[in-house]
Amino acid sequence: MLKSIVRRTSISGTSRRGFTSGSAPERKVAVLGAAGGIGQPLSLLMKLNPLVSRLALYDIAGTPGVAADVSHINTRSEVAGFAGEEQLGQALEGADVVIIPAGVPRKPGMTRDDLFNINAGIVKSLCTAIAKYCPHALVNMISNPVNSTVPIAAEVFKKAGTYDEKRLFGVTTLDVVRAKTFYAGKARVNVAEVNVPVVGGHAGITILPLFSQATPTANLSDEEIEALTKRTQDGGTEVVEAKAGKGSATLSMAYAGAIFADACLKGLNGVPDVVECSFVQSNVTELPFFASKVRLGKNGVEEVLGLGQLTDYEKEGLEALKPELLSSIEKGIKFANAN
Ligand code: NAD
Ligand code: LMR
Repeated sequence: MLKSIVRRTSISGTSRRGFTSGSAPERKVAVLGAAGGIGQPLSLLMKLNPLVSRLALYDIAGTPGVAADVSHINTRSEVAGFAGEEQLGQALEGADVVIIPAGVPRKPGMTRDDLFNINAGIVKSLCTAIAKYCPHALVNMISNPVNSTVPIAAEVFKKAGTYDEKRLFGVTTLDVVRAKTFYAGKARVNVAEVNVPVVGGHAGITILPLFSQATPTANLSDEEIEALTKRTQDGGTEVVEAKAGKGSATLSMAYAGAIFADACLKGLNGVPDVVECSFVQSNVTELPFFASKVRLGKNGVEEVLGLGQLTDYEKEGLEALKPELLSSIEKGIKFANAN
């Protein structure tokens, strides 16, 4: 049996739990799937985040090495690695934010839904443990298919009596990251200044970037907007094909996951006006879950923001995505209640 390892910083001038950090409150972040393609760079990025005081890295195997490696970085958080189911409870206990990139990635020719059979079970068992050990944590779901894994998590939490819709998030930040990058390239504007909301879900046509609301504004043709929309929707597949069987986006996803977790931590800490797109329980459309801009606060979701003014092209995209998104949501709910 693998033992958990805890690495404490030992340089003079540090606190018992790592480096002193001014006034930032203590925050524990757990990464489930931390030894994977996303998990490792995401763990690195969370170790660099000064809002984190404790970082728990959990996977079925391989985490002692990842934790030992990351723990040598001279930043605030204390790092601990946990491997195997028997250590999952320890990894989760006291967590403020749990990030879940556990599960299998796509290979060329697969859809995200093709991952359902394996990942649904993984997510279900991890969420069962979250309900038991850290029922109040904010859960950042990365594992695909997000359109189904978030509803699975909600059902698991409901059954356990711990569901709080304000605390469950499907991470769609990578769609926003891509939309910003592709838009900046086409519009020839400074990528660092770009904002683009991306709504709907996280698979193919359910990903709906709202380029009509992009800032800074640019005079792009309908054809250019269509091409940008398609490229954003197919961004994941572009990476899967380029990796040619070696998995899907990991580095850009780690970046996106770190941005979203940071937003959650800022919200928890009372920073005002923290807004990110996320797939959450929603009344924005008739669908029970939907991605849109969300204001984050001390309890997680503070406000789910509406869609704003849409162009005819975006309205068509919205109507077109609803049947697929609803069916993925229902598939997740059915799985959680049948198993
Ligand atoms: P990977 O195979 O490299 O890593 C997955 C890790 O999960 C592995 O280390 C594995 O051991 C671990 N794991 C499996 N079962 C587990 C369990 N029960 N508990 C804890 N850990 C477990 O895969 P990856 O490239 O890191 O991708 C992970 C998931 O993220 C995939 O489902 C992928 O489709 C998804 N993903 C989502 C987005 C998004 O935008 N939401 C982007 C990229 C990838
Ligand atoms: C992505 O958008 O990169 C992820 O959802 C992974 C995938 O399978 O495309």
